Amino acid sequence: MLGPVLLAAARSDSIRRVVSAAPVTRPVVDRFVAGERLDASMAAVRSLADRGMEVTLDHLGEDITDPAEALRNRDAYLQLTAALKDLGLGERAEMSVKLSAFGQALPGGHELALKNVTPVVEAAAEAGTTVTLDMEDHTTVDSTLAILGELRARFPQTGAVLQSYLFRTEDDCHALAGEGSRVRLVKGAYKEPATVAFQDKREVDKAYVRCLKILMAGEGYPMIGSHDPRMVAIGQELGRRFGRKPAEYEFQMLYGIREAEQERLVTEGHRMRVYIPYGTDWYGYFMRRLAERPANLAFFLRSLVTK
Ligand code: FDA
Repeated sequence: MLGPVLLAAARSDSIRRVVSAAPVTRPVVDRFVAGERLDASMAAVRSLADRGMEVTLDHLGEDITDPAEALRNRDAYLQLTAALKDLGLGERAEMSVKLSAFGQALPGGHELALKNVTPVVEAAAEAGTTVTLDMEDHTTVDSTLAILGELRARFPQTGAVLQSYLFRTEDDCHALAGEGSRVRLVKGAYKEPATVAFQDKREVDKAYVRCLKILMAGEGYPMIGSHDPRMVAIGQELGRRFGRKPAEYEFQMLYGIREAEQERLVTEGHRMRVYIPYGTDWYGYFMRRLAERPANLAFFLRSLVTK
């Protein structure tokens, strides 16, 4: 019940100010965010890579209000690309971007986001790595998939994210199941209306399995973005059923979540990519993690009373 309230709070500036200023918030945020600075994120990358994991880095920033912020976000990603080039991990360390951080929600946002994200995708290719476009709320899906199409014409390895809670996603999976396509399938983290998305968690799960079947049966590279033990087991089973070798799909989980399971999958010979968010603009990301799981919220509330 609290989930929708927290997702609404994730978009509220006044609640953002209160939560961000509370001194007790920091240690809880640290569980989900690798740090505010690039060097902290690089330390997390090294530590995970040493344990056989792959990573995707997210420089936090979304819902910006002015084009100058979009340029700052672009530059932060260019710095990140240079740091990844120095690390030399190739596609084992890729980047995830939210197009809203590149101006997608501003006037003329579609063109602006494409213009701002293109140099990052170019720099990533030059550095031997790639970019995945995160998916945000349903109003952005057409624009994000159109930008994906433009980018893939020059950089076919650019990845997409599809959300099983949206009614449209099975069709999108069919459209993106072709050779060379990289698709991260997730359940979806935004508050969406009943006109466009399943509201019942069981329906979202069933849709996730239908979508995963389409992607695993296809010619592309499926990326299973879920902490759900059932989805992980079904992913492994579908991998076997469709004759995919472990290198022909991967699992993805968020930084700080189910770390023992991340290790287990690597030990079993699977590709496991950890999504590492870093930066100062952690509020929206943090609130979505609280909304997802009562245990995350309980952890936060406990830290308020035990301080
Ligand atoms: P869900 O929340 O449905 O929980 C199912 C079960 O999983 C739980 O009952 C429990 O057993 C287990 N579980 C879940 N969380 C756990 C935890 N913290 N600790 C222990 N067990 C836990 N969303 C989006 O809209 N756009 C995007 O671009 C992305 N990108 C993205 C990247 C990656 C790598 C991941 C893993 C996720 C995203 N998401 C996302 C978020 C996604 O949409 C979704 O909100 C969360 O992954 C939560 O859904 P799950 O499938 O993980 O489990």
